[in-house]
Amino acid sequence: MKFTSKSPEETLNLGYRFGKKLKSGAVVALIGELGTGKTLFTKGIARALGVKEYEYVNSPSFVIVKEYKPKKKIPLYHFDLYRLESGHDLDTIGYEEYFYSNGITVIEWADRAMDILPEKHISVKFKHSGKNKRRITIEK
Ligand SMILES: Nc1ncnc2c1ncn2[C@@H]1O[C@H](COP(=O)(O)OP(=O)(O)O)[C@@H](O)[C@H]1O
Ligand SMILES: [Mg+2]
Repeated sequence: MKFTSKSPEETLNLGYRFGKKLKSGAVVALIGELGTGKTLFTKGIARALGVKEYEYVNSPSFVIVKEYKPKKKIPLYHFDLYRLESGHDLDTIGYEEYFYSNGITVIEWADRAMDILPEKHISVKFKHSGKNKRRITIEK
């Protein structure tokens, strides 16, 4: 499925609608250059999952993964692999516990770890397409 987002709000809403359809255990690979909307899209997913502080969901800078656990709802595991130097970093945090859990895992810069992603993941690709335009492609 392909979308053109014409504003940050539209990308957030797209993430929200996408998040509403996600099932427990889903792994979502977000792929695209800096500033293409991966984090905004993740905020939308967080909102859909009932994360109250969704507006504060930001790319984790000093950790690779942040966990959000809305009460009685599915947890969200937000990875950002921008600073990942090798697959080794991920081994040390035990990524499998997240990827193969009942939570929802969203991974920014997932192209840096394609070899370890569960086969059954959803890819969302982001591309710049003008100042405030982004092409967003969802592939199951
Ligand atoms: N249509 C759009 N969708 C998403 N972000 C947009 C759009 N137009 C402009 N922007 C801007 O691009 C930036 C996207 O940031 P962010 O979501 O953090 O990207 P990433 O996580 O991919 O680096 C924000 O500053 C946002 O305001
Ligand atoms: Mg980001």
